[in-house]
Amino acid sequence: MNYRHAYHAGAFADVLKHAVLVHVLDHMARKATPFFVLDSHAGAGRYDLAGPEARRTGEAEAGIMRLLAASNVPEALVPYLDAVRRFQNAGPVYPGSPKLARMRLRARDRMVAIELLDEDKVALSRAFAGDPVVDIRRMDGFAALKSLLPPAARRGLVLVDPAFEATDEFERLAGALKAAWRRWPTGTYIVWYPIKDEAEVAAFHAALLAAGPPKILRAELRVQPAGRPGLGACGVLVANPPFTLEAMLAEALPYLARVLGREGVGGFRLDWLRAEGTEPVSAPAARRIPESSRPRPRGARARTRG
Ligand SMILES: C[S@@+](CC[C@H](N)C(=O)[O-])C[C@H]1O[C@@H](n2cnc3c(N)ncnc32)[C@H](O)[C@@H]1O
Repeated sequence: MNYRHAYHAGAFADVLKHAVLVHVLDHMARKATPFFVLDSHAGAGRYDLAGPEARRTGEAEAGIMRLLAASNVPEALVPYLDAVRRFQNAGPVYPGSPKLARMRLRARDRMVAIELLDEDKVALSRAFAGDPVVDIRRMDGFAALKSLLPPAARRGLVLVDPAFEATDEFERLAGALKAAWRRWPTGTYIVWYPIKDEAEVAAFHAALLAAGPPKILRAELRVQPAGRPGLGACGVLVANPPFTLEAMLAEALPYLARVLGREGVGGFRLDWLRAEGTEPVSAPAARRIPESSRPRPRGARARTRG
């Protein structure tokens, strides 16, 4: 395992995933009945944005820091940005998914956070020491999707955010999700994935559609032209989303594409892989995220379209 989230914390990928996470949790916390959260690939919990890892990649600078400095932020992103700002009272740190989730949990709710990498698991345990709401475990996150579901609480959320290091990670993810959906079809699931090869992503979506829960919303964000080195696009699938999420993303995605898009190019896609009681709305063929352009700053070099 070489992946270290400290290099990528606060990047555009975290922004999309965490804005969705906060929205879903806010929706769950509206009801008084307890809910359960499983974070299957939790990371270290908090990240130092002034540390050598974040400074080396500059991903947080081009992601959350740029967003925090932007103007005319849509209402849809305010709860997420407020949560990040509150966390940053302690300095230039960024909250990982379990910390963001914990900000929404009440004393009656429960969270299990899984992390396989020893170093990050130790950091995570330290970050939640003495917290009766949070249970930290070192195990395989895909195995946890089978062994820890369904939870005792009838409502809840599963965040699945793998490192995508192994060549078979999309297949492992699809297999684990299918097993989880069989065990707990009514839970809400947020699943993050990188978009490097559109055909691979399409095959992943097709595999999920063969055995998924009734509704799956897809949100994808591109921040650099296709074909450039590094991660330029990613997506989030939300199975059984709250009814408010589509409208939130319809407001947030164009803004994120514009503010976080590099070289004047950003793009997004928002649609239903499957709406309730229907066949897949969009055939899971390999399709590029549409790229929109914005006026390039005076003096910038020619824009390249992907
Ligand atoms: C993308 S990071 C998670 C980031 C975190 N969810 C967040 O949003 O702040 C993926 C994490 O999964 C861990 N990991 C890798 N393979 C794993 C496995 N099989 N089971 C559980 N965790 C794993 C990595 O060490 C890494 O910390």
